[in-house]
Amino acid sequence: MVPALLLFALLRSTLAWVPIDHWGSGNVTAGADENGQCVCKVFLPDTSFPGDKVELLQKTSMELSQKVELGLSKLELYESKLVIYAQKLVNLTVRVEIMQGRPDQYTELEFELLRIELQQMEALVTQLRQSVNSSSPIFDLLYVEIQNMTSVVNQLERYDKNNLLVMQHEFTKLQKKLEDCQKWHDESFKPDIGSCNHGGISNISMPYIVQLGAHVNEGYLYGGWGRDSKPKPGFEDMYWYSGYTSPYTYNLYLYSDYTNLLLRNQFKYFDNTLKGNGINNIMHGNYYYYNCYNTGNLCRMNATTFVVETRVLPDAAWNNRFSYSSATYQDFDFAADENGLWVIYATEASKGNMVLSKMNVDAFSAQQTWVTNVFRRRVSNAFMVCGVLYATRQINLNIEEIFYKYDTKTGKESYISIPFNKQYEGFVYLDYNPADQRLYMYSKGYYIYYNVKFEKI
Ligand SMILES: *[C@@H]1O[C@H](CO)[C@@H](O)[C@H](O)[C@H]1NC(C)=O
Ligand SMILES: *[C@@H]1O[C@H](CO)[C@@H](O)[C@H](O)[C@H]1NC(C)=O
Ligand SMILES: *[C@@H]1O[C@H](CO)[C@@H](O)[C@H](O)[C@H]1NC(C)=O
Ligand SMILES: *[C@@H]1O[C@H](CO)[C@@H](O)[C@H](O)[C@H]1NC(C)=O
Ligand SMILES: *[C@@H]1O[C@H](CO)[C@@H](O)[C@H](O)[C@H]1NC(C)=O
Ligand SMILES: *[C@@H]1O[C@H](CO)[C@@H](O)[C@H](O)[C@H]1NC(C)=O
Repeated sequence: MVPALLLFALLRSTLAWVPIDHWGSGNVTAGADENGQCVCKVFLPDTSFPGDKVELLQKTSMELSQKVELGLSKLELYESKLVIYAQKLVNLTVRVEIMQGRPDQYTELEFELLRIELQQMEALVTQLRQSVNSSSPIFDLLYVEIQNMTSVVNQLERYDKNNLLVMQHEFTKLQKKLEDCQKWHDESFKPDIGSCNHGGISNISMPYIVQLGAHVNEGYLYGGWGRDSKPKPGFEDMYWYSGYTSPYTYNLYLYSDYTNLLLRNQFKYFDNTLKGNGINNIMHGNYYYYNCYNTGNLCRMNATTFVVETRVLPDAAWNNRFSYSSATYQDFDFAADENGLWVIYATEASKGNMVLSKMNVDAFSAQQTWVTNVFRRRVSNAFMVCGVLYATRQINLNIEEIFYKYDTKTGKESYISIPFNKQYEGFVYLDYNPADQRLYMYSKGYYIYYNVKFEKI
């Protein structure tokens, strides 16, 4: 079974891969919808494909049910079908590319839409993929629906333009359902937003790999994404992304919500004009904070007007002097938590040990500073939660560990061990968002997040 899963992953390296959130109990599926209906249910109108196909599909789904009834291992069935499905998806992608070479027959827009919808298909497979270890009958139904969808997608190339648009419309409907499905999978995660009434981080979930970033390119190694932790009213669901092929800040993409992030449908962007060093940036209070290019200064850009302000961060070392071990030029790491905005850096006076400043957002200046005893170059990345600095280090290619924390309230620092999984070797971005108590990671071009679990007190 495991080789099949590996094969599946290899077949489609850009496929979003979202392991189910286990807090060790595997109780996620128990949280199934009370109606016994999967929120991912896919509806395809009969008008969108011909009757003979329908018959075939019914036959296929019946055969499938029989197979299940025959007592074949559900797991094996799912996995082998998923592998085929992934192959078909790859094939379809290839075909789309071929068809794109005949623009006389299809318009650019149609293919753009199709490509976006393919991404939705990927996300759908991801959801299905999570069900591999589930015994819920809901997934049987979902699975058949996906089979239906697969058949339809495989016929896409034989459809004329009108049908293509009908398909597009239908696929778009999927989007909402996918989102609901995501929420359903998150049921075991019940954050107490805004609360610091806990004993600090106790565990980190498995990674949720959302998808390849907006540039759809694994070469965009340097990037970050997340949500504004103190959003402007009306922008509560907004997501941001910034990414580039070298360790600099070049752009900022804004998405009105998660759906549009997935669709790579930004409502606003600033491209190749914003220049900064490093990429450990953050959005806070509708400002995008970053290290101004080629100086040791702080920059922030008004996300509405794109107007940039600059301030000196006294004594801050820059120009790759004490970057994180994970990547070069990450001299300034902005972080936001329940208490506000912070910047994590190092100075010559600290001998390169991590220095932490709480920012006064109104004045855009450091209002209080703490010096730690951890050499910044030892750290892969760091973030803030409830006034506590957490630093991570690499254990091996797959495991990262929160190994250190510094409490600004008490000035107490301690070495801890909270290991967590990484999907890819290396990452350049890690930040906590107090608005949803998640960790946002950017790794090998992918958007990844983790749920954070806190120690009860
Ligand atoms: C699953 O959750 C329910 C309700 O919260 C609980 O009673 C049950 O013990 C949990 N099962 C496991 C395996 O943790
Ligand atoms: C994908 O395409 C390859 C090469 O054309 C073919 O051998 C294979 O059967 C196809 N797979 C599916 C699932 O359609
Ligand atoms: C499914 O469960 C089996 C055994 O419980 C485990 O070995 C396997 O890694 C799991 N697969 C996934 C994808 O979680
Ligand atoms: C699959 O498609 C057929 C034809 O539209 C439909 O009758 C059947 O109910 C579908 N199966 C599921 C599970 O949606
Ligand atoms: C922490 O979370 C991971 C991933 O969800 C899980 O495998 C592990 O058992 C958890 N550890 C503890 C101590 O709860
Ligand atoms: C950005 O500019 C707009 C328009 O001038 C202004 O209303 C807003 O207060 C500024 N600051 C932020 C953080 O949006």
